[in-house]
Amino acid sequence: RKKVTIQTLQALRQSKTPISMLTAYDYPSALACSSSLLTDITLVGDSLAQVCLGYASTTQLTLSEMIHHAKAAARGTTHPFLIADMPFGTYHTSVQNAVANAVRLVQEGRVEGVKLEGGREIADVVRRLTDIGIPVMAHVGLLPQRHCALSGYKVQGKSAEAAKKVVTDALALQEAGAFAVVVEAVPLELGKYITDRLKIPTIGIGAGPHTSGQVLVYDDVMGTWSGHKAKFVRRFGNMKEIRDNAVQSYGEAVREGSFPDPQAESYTMDKIEWARFL
Ligand code: KIV
Ligand code: NA
Repeated sequence: RKKVTIQTLQALRQSKTPISMLTAYDYPSALACSSSLLTDITLVGDSLAQVCLGYASTTQLTLSEMIHHAKAAARGTTHPFLIADMPFGTYHTSVQNAVANAVRLVQEGRVEGVKLEGGREIADVVRRLTDIGIPVMAHVGLLPQRHCALSGYKVQGKSAEAAKKVVTDALALQEAGAFAVVVEAVPLELGKYITDRLKIPTIGIGAGPHTSGQVLVYDDVMGTWSGHKAKFVRRFGNMKEIRDNAVQSYGEAVREGSFPDPQAESYTMDKIEWARFL
């Protein structure tokens, strides 16, 4: 498949072909995303914090950590459009600082675009990054980087007022130049309404079936994440069981001495050389 571009994504939206986006955090997971021609976008999400680094929330992830992982994911990415989340705090202090940090993600992390959480209040940053040629994916609805301010990971836009705020935010970010917007944890009616109102693709996660595309966290798809399972998660594999069984079987084989096999899994010395050695 040819490299996916912003134009490809816009064409998928136009033809109502659901866009498939999946996260990756390193070389093997990026290779896995690239292994299907159906993957349109690979996102080095800041969910990296929890699923790969064991942090309690995404607010603990630093820019250096994100760059380190984005680099590895870039080496494993072929056709999918590659994006990375800008970590918490790396686009909030000033437009200048946001530009400097986004440039590092592109230059060192080798990503093609960046994703930013927020509404109207980050529109000036989105505008500036877009103007200098760094594609921006916006992210509205549930904003995990603000889980403390939001008193937890809750469905957003449930009241008429809250729903209106999500819509005006999405419109402001489109106006600021975002090429797509992630819509997280909102009622499906709102997911559809935003999708109909916008000209850019909407990528839903817990936003119902009517968005232009879907995104899930790699470990949720694989079934390797044993923490909280959100309502919107579907496990497409049971890799945790397969993985833990392999670890258990290895341990048993070592303990009982059945691994390694002296013929199939070991090297032998030439008999004459061995006699000379002795
Ligand atoms: O960090 C992440 O994985 C994300 C997606 C799930 C949208 O932001
Ligand atoms: Na994220």
